[in-house]
Amino acid sequence: MPRPRLNQSPEWLALRGHYADVADRELRDWFGAEPQRASSMTVEAAGLVLDYSKNRLSAETIGLLVALARSRGVGERIEAMFRGERINTTEGRAVLHTALRAPRDAEVVVDGENVVPAVHAVLDRMAAFAGDVREGRWRGATGKRIRHVVNLGIGGSDLGPAMATRALSAYASRELDVRFVSNVDGADFAQATLGLDPAETLFIVCSKTFTTIETITNAHSARRWLVEGLGEDAVAKHFVAVSTNRAGVTEFGIDAGNMFEFWDWVGGRYSLPSAIGLSLMVAIGPESFRDMLAGFYAMDEHFREAPFERNLPVLLGLIGLWYDEFFGCETTAVLPYSEELARFGDYLQQLDMESNGKRVDLDGVELEWQSAPVVWGQAGTNGQHAFYQLLHQGTKLVPCDFIGFLRSNVDLGDHQRLLVANLFAQAEALAFGKTAEEVTAAGVDAELVPHRVFPGNRPSNMILADQLTPHTLGALIALYEHKVFLQAAIWGINAFDQWGVELGKVAAKQIAGELADDSPLTHDSSTNALIERYRKSQERLRHSSQ
Ligand code: F6P
Repeated sequence: MPRPRLNQSPEWLALRGHYADVADRELRDWFGAEPQRASSMTVEAAGLVLDYSKNRLSAETIGLLVALARSRGVGERIEAMFRGERINTTEGRAVLHTALRAPRDAEVVVDGENVVPAVHAVLDRMAAFAGDVREGRWRGATGKRIRHVVNLGIGGSDLGPAMATRALSAYASRELDVRFVSNVDGADFAQATLGLDPAETLFIVCSKTFTTIETITNAHSARRWLVEGLGEDAVAKHFVAVSTNRAGVTEFGIDAGNMFEFWDWVGGRYSLPSAIGLSLMVAIGPESFRDMLAGFYAMDEHFREAPFERNLPVLLGLIGLWYDEFFGCETTAVLPYSEELARFGDYLQQLDMESNGKRVDLDGVELEWQSAPVVWGQAGTNGQHAFYQLLHQGTKLVPCDFIGFLRSNVDLGDHQRLLVANLFAQAEALAFGKTAEEVTAAGVDAELVPHRVFPGNRPSNMILADQLTPHTLGALIALYEHKVFLQAAIWGINAFDQWGVELGKVAAKQIAGELADDSPLTHDSSTNALIERYRKSQERLRHSSQ
């Protein structure tokens, strides 16, 4: 008998009934009735603690969600991914970012070949290169030491290394300054290279396909910038590439010997632990990079082995789904109380929204349920002075993930205690609010009481670790990767393609040509008028410079 669609399955219908029973229950009541709630809803793995007790759910809810996951074959999907089956069906590819952090003696077979030795061979080459740059053995064309490393890439070829380099700045060499250029806006390249000496600058061009217009344009500008300063022969000492496209790299003029490879079974947004992490490895050193991989691996193993009821990525995914599907929440906020994780939200946006922002299932049939939420947020405590007003008193229900660390990498007076106090206080205030009685008892005038009430009952997860180390960061990223995987498995979608970015890319290519010539325009009237406006501005510019 064919399996029922997700929203007609008995497990889904059971959750719908359960939702009707519990939707109006207050977190105050849940906590009042369950003295052990916090301890029974706290799980730990790979150095991370997840306290999910401040969510609008009970042990019964978790049981029903787990039953839903089981009924959708999530366990088998997890094994299929780890085994290297071609689960990216629309592109006919395996999905094996987990092989990138597998230990040297592991075996992961793709097309009859164990890929782990190749993974470690590239890691070893990266380590040798990173060591050479860090210790001054790799020098620029004039013999000067490399002081600046500029990563050129976009999307997965930028967000992972940029986020992680900032996150692990406490572990980075003080001798080297690592920068990132992603946007095709020339201002990005100009700002990143401002004041740099070409003789001390190394460019790492990162692109899985080596065809991405932003990256190739930036790489050409970088090449011109370098050649103007040092001449054509300097290119070999100042450019390396990371790609799956050897021909593209050599055609650009980078020696294949200066290329670090990865494979089509690594999705761009899952590629930080591959050679795409080279700029990070140069910054923090091979040893710290390997610590990060160990953190990834610890979470991979936990995801694969732990029972769903105590499995961090599974719980995080199921809780997210509970709000998306049954409460109708459309967004989720990720709020790291760590300035070092300031770019974590950007990173997660691609991971979650490019993976699961889909509208049809694996069979191409339109979904009758929600897929990925809008992921947003920023580092605490800045957000508190910007958008937390809405979180506390607005009309929207926004489930939050708080992320924090007990110890700081920066030893500076009382800062960390205050940061952690804010982190705990926000989760508490969102959950329990302040009632009209409490506001009145505090002596507030009657007409102001409604304005001063905090309804509470606003859910959050608390993810804590001792300290932000390479290992913790690896585990944290893998936690979210697998959360996204879990949700895709239940929704029945392919988390590993991104056809949705194509239409705009193709249109931009055509319009780029039209902006440069005066060919007849066949777009809609709005787009035609915008193009005409640009053409006229170019004309004015030409006249004024004549
Ligand atoms: O945004 C689309 C995308 O294909 C991402 O998936 C990818 O991370 C990014 O572009 C960059 O691609 P590449 O590494 O091939 O330059």
